[in-house]
Amino acid sequence: MSEPPHESTAGAARLLVAAIKETAAGERRVALTPDSVTKLKPAGIDVAVETGAGAGAFLSDDAYAGAGASVVGAAQLTARADVVVTIGSPSPELVGQLRPGQTIIGMLRPLIDPHLAQRLAEAGVTAVSLDMLPRTVSRAQSMDALTSQANVAGYKAVLVAADAFARFFPMLVTAAGTAKPADVLVLGAGVAGLQAMGTARRLGAVVTGYDVRPETRSEIESVGARFLQLKSVTSAAGEGGYARALTESEQAAQQEELNSLIARFDIVITTAQVPGRRPPLLVTGDAVKQMRAGSVIVDLAASALGGNVEGSVPDQEVVTGNGVTIIGGGNLAAQVPAAASAAFSNNVGALLQTLVRDGSLAIDLEDEVHAGVVVTHGGRVVNPAVSKLLDTTATPGGNS
Ligand code: NAI
Repeated sequence: MSEPPHESTAGAARLLVAAIKETAAGERRVALTPDSVTKLKPAGIDVAVETGAGAGAFLSDDAYAGAGASVVGAAQLTARADVVVTIGSPSPELVGQLRPGQTIIGMLRPLIDPHLAQRLAEAGVTAVSLDMLPRTVSRAQSMDALTSQANVAGYKAVLVAADAFARFFPMLVTAAGTAKPADVLVLGAGVAGLQAMGTARRLGAVVTGYDVRPETRSEIESVGARFLQLKSVTSAAGEGGYARALTESEQAAQQEELNSLIARFDIVITTAQVPGRRPPLLVTGDAVKQMRAGSVIVDLAASALGGNVEGSVPDQEVVTGNGVTIIGGGNLAAQVPAAASAAFSNNVGALLQTLVRDGSLAIDLEDEVHAGVVVTHGGRVVNPAVSKLLDTTATPGGNS
């Protein structure tokens, strides 16, 4: 297989960035695509990929080699790389193979698993986590993998719902009769929710959207959906454009009001999240019981911690006794692997362009983008929020 030189003939430094073949169940994305290989060359960055890394996203080893990447086996890849790029958290095996001075970039979720950051710091590995990006900084938008992947997931949620629904989304007038359009409710109008609303509209459904941040009204209306105004919670805007967690009484009032409204919808897609918290429960078991047979719920927030919908299971489809299909979204972005990989790769490429100077990593913790994403460096956890979490969640042996 072709292997670009790690140093140019003129002796200028070049950085070797390596994309692994993802090992998580159902993960079909790859962190770097051949397009990025070409774009990164002028910045002094060479790319290596693990054999078969792009297969799940229909990107062949030949396509990578043709773009100038080296295609190598797993052991050689990690041994040679200056920077290892992954989609999600590295497997324990990969963590064990990383050596001091190497860097790992991925969605490492250090606020959910701070002990991974601790292990990486102890191993002398610099950890750069895309999900820690300060998203409101405008020059960081091209690096925002949370947004790019939520966008894909919101789109796919609608397709999954339409597929499970036994009727049409659009109104259809045919000689064999008239089909009324599906009534779709989307709860949470962040990136995924707004994409879900727009996609459901494009399929011809009548769409209603709801969020606790009042500024979402105009965003919901701009994608052609109707804004659902609840009387119980009028505003729960938090910091950085996110929602704050509701108080217990607000949450109970919200659930009660939603319970009385949900039954009239055919499709409910939930996308509500609060950073660093378990997702709020929006659709209770009682609300599900009141829905008509054939209705479909997709819970994009479904996780091991629980989701927005009582009874949702990540990556599984459950049909209730009253004929409601509940689909636990889990990792829907991975089910649109080519589009999701292309976007993720562009995000990683943009981030590398800011982290690398003249073919070497140049981390500057005074830079607000670097300070956000760099979680461990120089053998220490350098992100204050993650260190604080580690102080409060210290476990014997450091296991998560
Ligand atoms: P997210 O995935 O954390 O949450 C999804 C949505 O759930 C949010 O809109 C939130 O308000 C809503 N939510 C939370 N609790 C709820 C509840 N109890 N009931 C109903 N809805 C609830 O958010 P996401 O999509 O990652 O980003 C949210 C917002 O962050 C964006 O809409 C934007 O305002 C801001 N943002 C800004 C960016 C920028 O300025 N460049 C880039 C990305 C995000």
